[in-house]
This record gives sequence, structure tokens and C-alpha cells, in this order.
Amino acid sequence: MPDYLSPAKINLTLDILGRRPDGYHNLESVAAAVGLHDIITLRPQPEKIALTCSAPYLPCDARNLAYRAAELLRSHASLPELGVSIHIEKRIPAQAGLGGGSGNAATMLRALNELWELRWPLDRLLPIAALLGSDVPFFLFGGTALLQGRGERVSPLGSRASLSLALVRPDFGISTAWAYGQLPQKRSPRRSAETMRQALASGDPLQVGEALHNDFDAVACAAFPALRRIHDRLRQLGAAGSLLCGSGSAVFGLFPDIEAAARAAATLACDYPFACAARTEDMRHDTLSAR
Ligand code: C5P
Repeated sequence: MPDYLSPAKINLTLDILGRRPDGYHNLESVAAAVGLHDIITLRPQPEKIALTCSAPYLPCDARNLAYRAAELLRSHASLPELGVSIHIEKRIPAQAGLGGGSGNAATMLRALNELWELRWPLDRLLPIAALLGSDVPFFLFGGTALLQGRGERVSPLGSRASLSLALVRPDFGISTAWAYGQLPQKRSPRRSAETMRQALASGDPLQVGEALHNDFDAVACAAFPALRRIHDRLRQLGAAGSLLCGSGSAVFGLFPDIEAAARAAATLACDYPFACAARTEDMRHDTLSAR
């Protein structure tokens, strides 16, 4: 059976526009898939969905988004006789803002669409992805995209800029719901996405570095001074910019090339439990037909 690579993501910009009546927040964000992958192995089996995972701290039942993705796809397909045995080799740290769980869910939808021979187009998978979580639809596309609504409205940007990153996670995680709760009530929202789109089109890492913005960065650094120190270290090591990943707790630094990113990550690995270098990824080009 083939292995499926489930990428991480970063948000190059993340503007929270305001709270909605349903309790979620409207946002505008430029997100990019990152070549740091969990590896998902699937084996078809009748009726039963079973999950194992290399990370002992992750639940292997319906609390796991990958499991829920399989269950939800099966119920939408009205095919209860289908089953699958899933193993996830975790490489992406949890509670880091890197979208590991959301990516796993989207990868499951794509993989099971193949394995169960549903052959559904992207259009039919997108609403199921949105039910699983705000970040899940983005991972059906990958690449670089503009996210709107609560994050579930995805417009691919077609940027081919490959950015070189060092990613660092400190020894604590941040819950997304907590981070949203910390945002000040009265704020005048920024609109950072258009500046980022232009910076990406220029292909100049310095310009991209200047255009980085994340509304969660200031609140997270205020609550966790250790994050400010990671920013400082990344910049001392030559980053053209650094930013919190999603709602944290990981921070990425943007480097001129992958060798510089790898050197910085190797240095930071001495002081932090997780540090690695990775590049942003192109959009997924495979069997799914778009619209
Ligand atoms: O959609 P997801 O389950 O990933 O969201 C996790 C939590 O993050 C939500 O329960 C909500 O508190 C918060 N959230 C939000 N606005 C968004 C996305 C997430 O308030 N656009």
C-alpha cells in the first residue's frame, strides 16, 4: 500500500477580522504548505476503521481528526461496509500552529477517495473538509493560498516561490481556542494579504520577510516571553523575518536559502525540543479534478 505524505503549513499573514455570531472569527490569511510531513500508511479492511499512531500523546479514536475524516467520508458515501487500517508516523509537532491534525484529515480524505475508489471531485470533498475543521480545506489544495471566512474559503495563489524556513517549537504548546480568546475585543483589523501576494510575486525573501504579519504573534509573545527569545535567535542567525506559526507555539524564520535555514535549525536544536529546516511546497497536482 502506498504511503501518503501529510504536510504542515505556516501562515505568512494572519489577520483576524472579527468575531462571528457562531463564535468563530472571520479571518484573512496567506497560508503555505510546508515540506515537513507526517507519513500515513493505509490498508483497506472490511467495515472497521482502526488507527495507530507513533505519538503516544495523541488519541487514536474519534478524538483524532484523521479517524473522524475516515468516518465522515464513509458516512457521506453511505458505504458502511468500507473500512481501513491507518497508521500515522508523526513528524509534525502538536499544538504548534503547524496544522498537523488538519493536514492528516485532508490527506485521509484524498487517500480514501482513491483507496475506496469513490473518485469524487474536489468540490465534493471540500464541504466534508470544512466540517472537520477550519484549516482542513486548505490542505486539500496545498501550495500557497488565500484563506477567508473562518479559514475554509480557499483561493490558490499559484505562487511558485519556494521559501526556506527554520521551524522551532518550544517545550510548550498553545491551544487555538485559547489564542482566539486572548485577542483584544477592540481592534482595528489590518489587511496584510495583498502586500504578501505582491511580495511572493517578487520572489524576494527580504520583501516576503517585511510583509510577514500574524495577529496572534503579539498576544502569544506577551503571554510567553520564550517566544520573543526564539524570534531574536532566528534573526541573530540571519532570518529575513520571523513569525509565529498560526496560533503557535512554533515560530518560523525565513532564510535566503535552505542551507542557511538548516544551519540555523541545527544551532537551535541544541536549545529547543524541536527545530528543523523545510521549504514551502507547490500545490498538489494529482488525481483530484478541481471544479
Ligand atoms: O475549526 P477548528 O476546530 O480548527 O477551530 C478550533 C477553535 O479555534 C474553534 O473552536 C474556535 O474557538 C477557534 N477558531 C475561531 N475562528 C476561526 C477558526 C478557529 O474562533 N476562524
